[in-house]
Amino acid sequence: MRPAASIKMGFYPTPSTVVNKIKTFLQFPQGKVSFFDPCCGEGIAVKELAEGKNAVTYGIELDQARAEAAKQNLDFVISGDFFQTKISNNAFSLMLNNPPYFSDGIERQELAFLRNTIRYLQPQGILIFIISQHRLDEKIAKVLSLHFENIQVFAFPQDEYEAFKQIVILGSKKQSSEPDLPKLQELLRIPDSMVAEIPETPLLSYPVPETQLITIFKSSVVDVLELQKFLAKSTLWNRLENSHRKLYGSNRPPLPLRTGHLALVLASGYLDGEVGEGGNLHIVKGRVFKETKENTEVLDKELIHRETDVIRISIKILKADGSIQVLV
Ligand SMILES: C[S@@+](CC[C@H](N)C(=O)[O-])C[C@H]1O[C@@H](n2cnc3c(N)ncnc32)[C@H](O)[C@@H]1O
Repeated sequence: MRPAASIKMGFYPTPSTVVNKIKTFLQFPQGKVSFFDPCCGEGIAVKELAEGKNAVTYGIELDQARAEAAKQNLDFVISGDFFQTKISNNAFSLMLNNPPYFSDGIERQELAFLRNTIRYLQPQGILIFIISQHRLDEKIAKVLSLHFENIQVFAFPQDEYEAFKQIVILGSKKQSSEPDLPKLQELLRIPDSMVAEIPETPLLSYPVPETQLITIFKSSVVDVLELQKFLAKSTLWNRLENSHRKLYGSNRPPLPLRTGHLALVLASGYLDGEVGEGGNLHIVKGRVFKETKENTEVLDKELIHRETDVIRISIKILKADGSIQVLV
């Protein structure tokens, strides 16, 4: 049973008893494998799966404290939102996906985490998907039967099952997605069925494929904590900061800003807020945004669709009389 304090912000770590049973379903190759958890909590489940094996482990966690703990347990951890990351496709040997059990107001996170992680698993890569039994709805069943084969579904052991009625869905990713109607119908019956517990000895086990090259595994936003840690270790930054403080006693730049510098600082939003006095009082708001231009052309018999991102800046002023002036 889990301590009540750990059931926080969708944090329901996979119990060790379940991890150890799942591990008996895996046949490890000679070479290196890679394990990925897109919402890894403290990373303990993947650490346990990988223990004693030639495995490199990757995790992403939104909660900062849990992400810091995960950094002690996994080889590579992104502290941040899974939905704001860049990761190599078709790369990982195995994925443990025990997503948060809630809706973000648009869709259930179980479906979002399943649908958006499949591309990172290599063909024949192993999926371990953990959800509450009643959440296996038509959308999830369709995704599973379309993209995975050798699917097996088991219930958590009795003691662990009581809390959230969780099931473990195991499968290997198909070489290419293909509908499987009988499997879909079988999965649709699961919420109303008695599901067998994970057996001690598996009847069908899964060969884990060796890892593919993982060249990209990063957040698409800046991790402020990591940046602070990095800067604290940088001798250049420390020298710059110290000499600057000694000379100027503040963060004022040594020379006045040129017009171009000022425009950049304004646009990035650093000078947002009230400016001027009396009749000249106004509010400045700068912003940098991305504009996507689309263009479609027919080349021989192929339709080519291009999207080009252009970074634009905008600076607006709200005057005391209520009028808005657009500078850029
Ligand atoms: C059910 S727990 C699973 C933890 C771990 N995977 C395990 O099996 O033990 C779900 C975790 O997802 C994290 N989480 C929620 N939304 C997330 C997001 N958008 N990106 C990354 N992690 C997220 C929560 O903070 C929580 O730790």
